[in-house]
Amino acid sequence: MTDDLVAALRAIVGEAHALTDPSVVASYESDWTGRFRGTARCVVRPASTEEVAAVLSACLAAGVAVCVQGGNTGLVGGSVPVDGAVLLSLLRIAPIEAVDEVAAQVTVGAGATLAAVQQAVRPLGFDVGVDFAARESCTVGGMASTNAGGERVLRYGTMRAQVVGLEAVLPDGAVVSRLAGLPKDNTGYDVVSLLAGAEGTLGVITKLRLRLVPLLPARAVALVAVAGTAEAVELVRAVRAVPSLEAAELFYADGLELVRAHTNLPAPFAEPHPAYVLVECADREDPGDDLLSAIEAAGDVVLDATVASDTRGRHALWTYREAHTESISAAGIPVKLDVAVPLAAFADCVAALPDTVAAAAPASRLILFGHVNEGNLHVNILDALDQDEAVSDAVLKLVASFGGSISAEHGVGRAKRDWLPLSRSATEIAMMRSIKEAVDPAGLLNPGVLL
Ligand code: FAD
Ligand code: MLT
Ligand code: ZN
Repeated sequence: MTDDLVAALRAIVGEAHALTDPSVVASYESDWTGRFRGTARCVVRPASTEEVAAVLSACLAAGVAVCVQGGNTGLVGGSVPVDGAVLLSLLRIAPIEAVDEVAAQVTVGAGATLAAVQQAVRPLGFDVGVDFAARESCTVGGMASTNAGGERVLRYGTMRAQVVGLEAVLPDGAVVSRLAGLPKDNTGYDVVSLLAGAEGTLGVITKLRLRLVPLLPARAVALVAVAGTAEAVELVRAVRAVPSLEAAELFYADGLELVRAHTNLPAPFAEPHPAYVLVECADREDPGDDLLSAIEAAGDVVLDATVASDTRGRHALWTYREAHTESISAAGIPVKLDVAVPLAAFADCVAALPDTVAAAAPASRLILFGHVNEGNLHVNILDALDQDEAVSDAVLKLVASFGGSISAEHGVGRAKRDWLPLSRSATEIAMMRSIKEAVDPAGLLNPGVLL
């Protein structure tokens, strides 16, 4: 049966794109963090929607599970195969069509990386509304499937808000194609929004129609030192007065130390400080003065600040923030929890975290950072892999007790599936299960992810 299936898949995608050599498939079998892995029966790399449909039909007929993978930068274990599954990689479906300048939209293959789309649209004066550090590897299909957030959510919303249409293959091989991108289209259930954020449990996205935002050429970035979390929230309140505000990111002294050890960057200020907020404004004219005025208006909250408007200076400041993920991973495999807490409770929740984590994993190291405007905290716990369940349970229950969400932007994947009832009611979960069973009655697409 297995050999028959691999032979059938080879007939669909070609000999070179149905891979079984263990040394070749290895990189598809473990995730970016090294925490999650599985063994695929075969890696299949279709080149079109039609080939994806044929692959899914063949796997359904053989009763074999299919796991979907884009850039494999996901952080919740959703992108690796379950043992024995066919791993379907979207990387070959990556064409970027001509930009529709009238509609300010573009249609792209799901396997196109975010960086490739940015490079295609920027020369025409457009940009993508979502951006984050994995841009060179993450695919727009993966971003839509996880409803990725990132650094510009406060201005443009999450990935779901950028996806105005898509094409997807359902588990039985049927194709849903809604690529018109009509801004107004009230004709029943919103299948585009449903597939966005479904983490590959309802269908394989093969194409996306993305809304584009104006490319704003004038940018100013400030790194502001503050005394702690409450002051960081206070600062964000002050800078929100600037209409061109695009990002407000938070990190702490211990995270900065890890980043500096990993990158050899110099200290940003003469003195170390407990916490740092990076803010970016973008406009058609230099927003530097507006940003500075807002920072000044924050008064005593500001312990120190440095501003950059030139490309090199901005990039240097952003590196302190964006290099957190790789610097933490260089120090070990972390238990990564990505949560959201109402801003009013954000500082209290952060204050409670060290004791909560220490009680579950006494020898661990806690590194926090995140997208402070959305109350989105990245909770990274090093040296805690042996206590991963206990520490996850403690942190996620704490977050729920503050009225927060167990997943702000990375999704539920396999890592947080057991804690979904902390964020979703029994009725909501039953509704999600009904949808899953209706679309994928055999349960063959991304089994174990989300539900
Ligand atoms: P994968 O990791 O391959 O897959 C993710 C999930 O989507 C899996 O469940 C997979 O089955 C499913 N999937 C993938 N492609 C498809 C498809 N075409 N159709 C159906 N299902 C599919 N995330 C954020 O939200 N914000 C951040 O700021 C952020 N920063 C990051 C920084 C770094 C350095 C890294 C490594 C990761 C970061 N992430 C961030 C997480 C990750 O990059 C995102 O979740 C991204 O959207 C995943 O895209 P991908 O193509 O790598 O998807
Ligand atoms: C980020 O904002 O850098 C990420 O979401 C990645 C992470 O949590 O490590
Ligand atoms: Zn993030």
